[in-house]
Amino acid sequence: MLFSSTLVAALASSASATIYYAGVAESGGEFGVYSSTATPGTGLPGRFGVDYAFLNVSTLPIWIKQNHINTFRVAFLLERMCPLAYGLGSKFNETYFSEFNTAITAITNAGAYAILDPHNYMRYNDPSQQPATGSVIGNSSDPKAATTKQFQQFWHELAGRYKKNEKVIFGIMNEPHDMPTSLVLTNDQAAINGIRSAGAKQLILAPGNGYTGGHYWLQQEQGDDPSGDYLYKLHDPVGNTAIDIHEYLDYDFSGQHIVCNQSFPANMAGVTGWLKQHNLKAMVTEFGGDNNTMCDTYLKEAIQYMASNPEYIGWTYWAAGPIWGTASPCCTDQKPYGSVEPGSLAGDGSPGLYYTVWLKVVQALVPKTLQKRGMSSIYGGR
Ligand SMILES: *[C@@H]1O[C@H](CO)[C@@H](O)[C@H](O)[C@H]1NC(C)=O
Ligand SMILES: *[C@@H]1O[C@H](CO)[C@@H](O)[C@H](O)[C@H]1NC(C)=O
Ligand SMILES: *[C@@H]1O[C@H](CO)[C@@H](O)[C@H](O)[C@H]1NC(C)=O
Ligand SMILES: *[C@@H]1O[C@H](CO)[C@@H](O)[C@H](O)[C@H]1NC(C)=O
Ligand SMILES: *[C@@H]1O[C@H](CO)[C@@H](O)[C@H](O)[C@H]1NC(C)=O
Repeated sequence: MLFSSTLVAALASSASATIYYAGVAESGGEFGVYSSTATPGTGLPGRFGVDYAFLNVSTLPIWIKQNHINTFRVAFLLERMCPLAYGLGSKFNETYFSEFNTAITAITNAGAYAILDPHNYMRYNDPSQQPATGSVIGNSSDPKAATTKQFQQFWHELAGRYKKNEKVIFGIMNEPHDMPTSLVLTNDQAAINGIRSAGAKQLILAPGNGYTGGHYWLQQEQGDDPSGDYLYKLHDPVGNTAIDIHEYLDYDFSGQHIVCNQSFPANMAGVTGWLKQHNLKAMVTEFGGDNNTMCDTYLKEAIQYMASNPEYIGWTYWAAGPIWGTASPCCTDQKPYGSVEPGSLAGDGSPGLYYTVWLKVVQALVPKTLQKRGMSSIYGGR
């Protein structure tokens, strides 16, 4: 089988040429605010290590040295970073910031890249039933809504704190949805302006509407205009912004179901053509699948598709995180199959998704030539 393994190696090395960033999402900093009665303020500010946590620092060597990944997307909650009493803007809860910053600096000191991820669906003030609750940022008909200007001030402050850390990546916002696509563009542009005016030049990831789903890029979603009609208008004075895309493999693209039957290559063809047309790059910061053979196939296709299309510069798998326990971040129809956190167990005590999906399927597809040093960039530091 010498011929075929040589061929595979040759394909793998040429195919992964433009994936510079690969890794996992660390989800947990946004936890502990859900209220079954949608009671505003539930879980705020929350208890660090109990209701929320960002990263188990001891897993970094496992990820970086054993799994050879170089990117972590770290979720946090805007209502904790900017408590309601202060409002969205430049005044932070320094306790929460310092807990978050401990995770970010541990990652970047270990040589990896860290995506800062405000996990807020372009909403602020009531995360009690995310993604539905909270006022849309910049909704001028809603007197309770934070303004686009406040969002810009928030990003100006956060980026200013990280402008000297070249291994940071700014994820503008997790999954905007059900709002005018023109306002997604306006808010994204305000974030870019805030970040650049702070003097930070690192990579920015800009999301679209419709939960930033790749398959919706060229079509209306819930009556909102296609992201593709607006997002190419973004202007970054230093030319270092990529598009942020999420794409799941189950029938409704929600990442909640066990059955994978949505073809990533087929569903992404439209947005890939759009990226090419506008000379843009993208990172897929959420995707995932269940531990079954169908999903194994769909996941492999997804990762190989990103590796073979130069519009894609990276991906992060959903999700690891320190406080999932036996619960699952995606793709299990709510069954407790564990998470992608190393050591994770399923509810029945058997190995969790770290073993049954990440090690089994994903790890072998982590590109061999990821960016090791230099500023985060759409060119992979080159
Ligand atoms: C952190 O990760 C290490 C390595 O996987 C593990 O041994 C340890 O139990 C974890 N700690 C917590 C609190 O989960
Ligand atoms: C800031 O965060 C800490 C830690 O969660 C919390 O104890 C404190 O009450 C928070 N302050 C505000 C103003 O929310
Ligand atoms: C904006 O606010 C108005 C008034 O509260 C509300 O009716 C409308 O649905 C909001 N728009 C969005 C996109 O949430
Ligand atoms: C995809 O799977 C769902 C079950 O999760 C099923 O209802 C649907 O019919 C399937 N669609 C196709 C095209 O196979
Ligand atoms: C997925 O993992 C869970 C937990 O270990 C297990 O119960 C289930 O049978 C697995 N599914 C498949 C299709 O192997």
